[in-house]
Amino acid sequence: MAEDFIPFSGSKQEQYEYVLAQAEALLAQETNTIANMANICAILKEQFNWFWIGFYSVDQTNNTLVLGPFQGPIACTRIPHGKGVCGTAWAKAETIIVKDVHQFEGHIACSSLSQSEIVVPLKKDDTVWAVLDIDSETLATFDLIDQEYLERIVGLL
Ligand code: SME
Repeated sequence: MAEDFIPFSGSKQEQYEYVLAQAEALLAQETNTIANMANICAILKEQFNWFWIGFYSVDQTNNTLVLGPFQGPIACTRIPHGKGVCGTAWAKAETIIVKDVHQFEGHIACSSLSQSEIVVPLKKDDTVWAVLDIDSETLATFDLIDQEYLERIVGLL
């Protein structure tokens, strides 16, 4: 079934409440995880228009993250455990907010345009199975409000 998503104006919290409700409704109609990851990327892109929004999934065969559904320019396909912001969020099993990627030791620059980012791990029984990575072209884009809502949104998967 085709869906329309109309971006919402308001405070950041109001925008997230709207996105969360839209994502809940959309995901209730579909059980396929890849499809749902893809639509979460699309909803976030439509609402916030960040530079890059995407998932990396854990590939246990070689202990890397592998690129999943995303919105934005082409990106690195593999990230080793513990490397970059994504690999670090995976290793620590916790959300990482980076206000300036140039200050993050070992940051993997898929694009020189990226200035700040947030990476949110997706867990099942305390084990990380994927991460949501969002990159912004401006410094210090993400804060604890983003963390709270993005953790709730990926919790729908
Ligand atoms: N910035 C990430 C790499 C992924 S790309 O930005 C899409 C990192 O250091 O983990």
